[in-house]
Amino acid sequence: MATNRTFTMLKPDSIENGNIGNIIGMITEAGFSIKAMKYTQLSDAQAKEFYAVHVERPFYGELVEYMTSGPIVAAILEKENAVEDFRALIGATDPSEAADGTIRKAYAESKGRNAVHGSDSDDNAQIESDFHFSPVEIF
Ligand code: CMP
Repeated sequence: MATNRTFTMLKPDSIENGNIGNIIGMITEAGFSIKAMKYTQLSDAQAKEFYAVHVERPFYGELVEYMTSGPIVAAILEKENAVEDFRALIGATDPSEAADGTIRKAYAESKGRNAVHGSDSDDNAQIESDFHFSPVEIF
C-alpha cells in the first residue's frame, strides 16, 4: 500500500544557483507538505552509502563527488500518491527530456546536475528517509 510519503534532496546545483526557495515553492504549490527538512552536506561515506545501488555504474564516482561538493536540502514530503506524483513533478533525469512545468525542466543543468532527487518507490522512500532523519526530526 502506498505510504503517501517520499524523500527528496535539493542537490548542490540548486543551492549554488539560488533556487532553494523557488523549488520549495513548486513543491508546496503542488500539494506536498513538509514532514522533515534539513540543510546539510553529505560526507563521502554517506554519499557512497546512499548511492550504493549505482556502484557499478560508470557515473558512480562522479555522482558521489558531485553530491559531496556542497550543501544539500533533504526533506520528507507527504501527499496522497507521493512517490509517483513527486516523480512527475520533478521530471526526467535528463533535463533535455523533462516535460514543461517540471522542476528539472526549470532548474536542472544536466543528468548529473539535475536539481533534485526523488525516491523511486515506497520502500526506497522509507529507506532514504530513515537514512537522513531520526524519528524526533519528523513532524
Ligand atoms: P537521482 O535519480 O537522484 O539518483 C541517481 C542519480 O545518478 C541521478 O539522479 C543522476 O543525478 C545521476 N545520473 C544518472 N545518470 C547519469 C549519467 N549518465 N551521468 C551522470 N549522472 C547520472
